[in-house]
Amino acid sequence: MRTYPQRAAIRHGVRLLILSGALALPALGQDPTLALTPPMGWNSWNHFACKVSDAVVRAAADAIASNGMKAAGYTYVNVDDCWQGERDAKGVIHPNERFPDMKSLGDYIHSKGLKFGIYSSPGPNTCANFEGSWQHEEQDAQQYAAWGVDYLKYDWCSADHVYTDDQMPAAYKKMHDALVRTGRPIVLSLCQYGIAAVWRWGASVGGNLWRTTDDIRDDYISMSAIGFMQNGLEKYAGPGHWNDPDMLEVGNGKMSHEEYRTHMSLWCILAAPLLSGNDLSKMEPVDLEILTNREVIAVDQDPKGVQGHRIWEEGPYEIWMKPLADGSAAVGFFNRGEGMDHTDRLTLQLKDIGITGPATVRDLWAHRDLGQFTGSFTAEVPTHGVVMVRIH
Ligand code: GLA
Repeated sequence: MRTYPQRAAIRHGVRLLILSGALALPALGQDPTLALTPPMGWNSWNHFACKVSDAVVRAAADAIASNGMKAAGYTYVNVDDCWQGERDAKGVIHPNERFPDMKSLGDYIHSKGLKFGIYSSPGPNTCANFEGSWQHEEQDAQQYAAWGVDYLKYDWCSADHVYTDDQMPAAYKKMHDALVRTGRPIVLSLCQYGIAAVWRWGASVGGNLWRTTDDIRDDYISMSAIGFMQNGLEKYAGPGHWNDPDMLEVGNGKMSHEEYRTHMSLWCILAAPLLSGNDLSKMEPVDLEILTNREVIAVDQDPKGVQGHRIWEEGPYEIWMKPLADGSAAVGFFNRGEGMDHTDRLTLQLKDIGITGPATVRDLWAHRDLGQFTGSFTAEVPTHGVVMVRIH
């Protein structure tokens, strides 16, 4: 797999380019009903990478439709990189031998009441060096629509070989406009790792979501670094356009269940897209339970569409809050400390979330009402763990 200079630049902390004038680009004709809450579904990349195939994707659709995930809100079944084959003499893109018939795959996913997602790049090649959409945007958008695609992840990758950074918004808008011209509502997911403060202009070029960071890995350090650095981006998210701190790693096996609960809780407080990235055909019941916790998902999918933010921190302890449509607040107590088998007490002053009288508190992981509290509420939080509550 190639390393592109742009990504190396991010890793080395090069100053972000702020693109002046990008906000002037109108996102014409976008379907106003798309992604009113953060998209939920599955994506092949985190677990399968280039071992993805038609059979893998059908198995994921089967699992979502039957294991409770669809009922919990998971909808999109997204093929990431590595599905592409060659273009024919007319420039039409064809899948590779692992995907015999994309239309039939789309039909299969739709027959389960689910939606079909695909992946490409504005550059000549994708990050795994397959064919990108450069100079074929219109043709590819038409092809995706003919296959029944409902979601496109559009990944910068080699685009920096053919565009400068200040052409980035226009490159994304080009595909957005091509998708609109198909007449099919297709969610557009921008993936360029947070370059050039994409949150400031992603919506204006028609993005329904945009990655705010480099790729997540299945470990606490990566997940927590990404998740907790989202603070401050909340003003850019809302119905139809979301910050995307990357896909879920729950169930991939390298974090503890406590850490996966932290991952899920934080993503839901962030109103992040919830794209599971594990092998759904071989899931531990506890991972399924984490991914389908309806009370936690309700926080993510709350119709008010406000991304949460940090309201308190002290050393490794953080408290985050997300205001909800019914006037309640979701609150996450996080312990980022390193002591093994250790629990620490974190206290929220209720006035910090605007509550002066008595408040009722419900634990969203224990599914238990904890009673009434006045003045403050204290949670006992294990190392790398979370307590997530809803406060009225
Ligand atoms: C980039 C993206 C990942 C994934 C891979 C595929 O690294 O950030 O999410 O799509 O490309 O090659």
